[in-house]
Amino acid sequence: MSKSLLRNGYNKVARILGKDRKQKQNFPVLEGHPAAQQHAEVTVERSGEIHDRVKKLHKEFKIYRWNPDHPTNNKPFLQSYYVDLSNCGPMVLDALQKIKGEDDSSLSYRRSCREGICGSCAMNVDGTNTVACLKPIDVDTSKPTVLTPLPHMYVIKDLVVDLTNFYHQYRSIEPWLKTKRAPEEGREYRQSPAERKKLDGLYECILCACCSTSCPSYWWNPEEFLGPAPLLHAFRWISDSRDGFTQERLQALTEDHKRLYRCRTIKNCAAACPKSLNPADAIHKMKTKHMISQVVEKVGSM
Ligand code: SF4
Ligand code: SF4
Ligand code: FES
Repeated sequence: MSKSLLRNGYNKVARILGKDRKQKQNFPVLEGHPAAQQHAEVTVERSGEIHDRVKKLHKEFKIYRWNPDHPTNNKPFLQSYYVDLSNCGPMVLDALQKIKGEDDSSLSYRRSCREGICGSCAMNVDGTNTVACLKPIDVDTSKPTVLTPLPHMYVIKDLVVDLTNFYHQYRSIEPWLKTKRAPEEGREYRQSPAERKKLDGLYECILCACCSTSCPSYWWNPEEFLGPAPLLHAFRWISDSRDGFTQERLQALTEDHKRLYRCRTIKNCAAACPKSLNPADAIHKMKTKHMISQVVEKVGSM
C-alpha cells in the first residue's frame, strides 16, 4: 500500500475519532458544510506537505570570505548561506545575487553580463574553475556547494582576485592587428571565409582566467610563463591572415624560453575552459611553428 493511501486512511480515521479537532476548529465558518470543511482540511494538509518539500530545497552555499579591512578577523573562512532554490534562478551566479541582495550585502564578487560573455564572474565552484553565470546549481541539497576564489591568485576581497599580472601578460602579446601594408582600396583588410575560419576556437576567449589559474606551470611560474589565456590570444593573432607580424610575434614569445615552453601539456587549461576552448592545442601549434621556423632558418644559413 502506498504511503499516500496510508496517510489518507489515517486522516479519515482521525477525522472520525475527532483527533483532528484542531483543523476543524480552524474553519468555524464552514460549520454545517462537511464537504467544504473536508476540502479546506485537505488543502491545509497539502499546503503543509508542499511547504515541507520546499524546505528540502534549501541549499547550503559555503563561500570563502576574507576582508583585508576587517580589524578583528583577518583569517579567511568559509561562511554558510542557505538559499531557497524554489525561489532562485538556476545558475550559481543567481544564488550569489540572491545572497548578496537578501542576506549579506558585504559579500564581494565580480559579475557583469551574467551570460558568459564578460568573464568577470570566474571562480572555483566545488573544486573546478568556471564562470558562475554558466554553472548550474547542483540541486543535491544533501551536500553544500563550496565557492572559493580562483586558485593561486592574490585575493583582494572574498571571491575577488587580483588579475593585474594576468592582464599585463595579455597586453604583452600585443592583442591587436599589426600590419606592414595599407589595406587594398584603402578601406579595410579583407579575409576569405577560409581564412576567417582559422580564428574559430580562438577569438571566443572571454579572458576569464579559469585556464591560467588551473595550470600548474602557471602556478609555479606566474611571472615568466605567460599562461594559457595570453598564449591562446597570441596564437589568435599569429593565425590571422591580415596580421603581418607572425614571425616577430613568435620571436617575442620565445626570446625567453619560459614564456611559451613552460607549458608541459598537462591540459588542465582545456578541461577548465567554460567556453570549451583548447589553449593547450594552440600552444602546441605555436611550438611546432616555432621549431619549424628554426629548422628552416638553420637550413637557409648552411
Ligand atoms: S597544457 Fe600547458 S598551459 Fe595548459 S594547463 Fe597544461 S601546462 Fe598549463
Ligand atoms: S581560454 Fe577559456 S578559460 Fe581561458 S581565459 Fe579564455 S575563455 Fe577563459
Ligand atoms: S557575469 Fe559575465 S561571464 Fe559571468
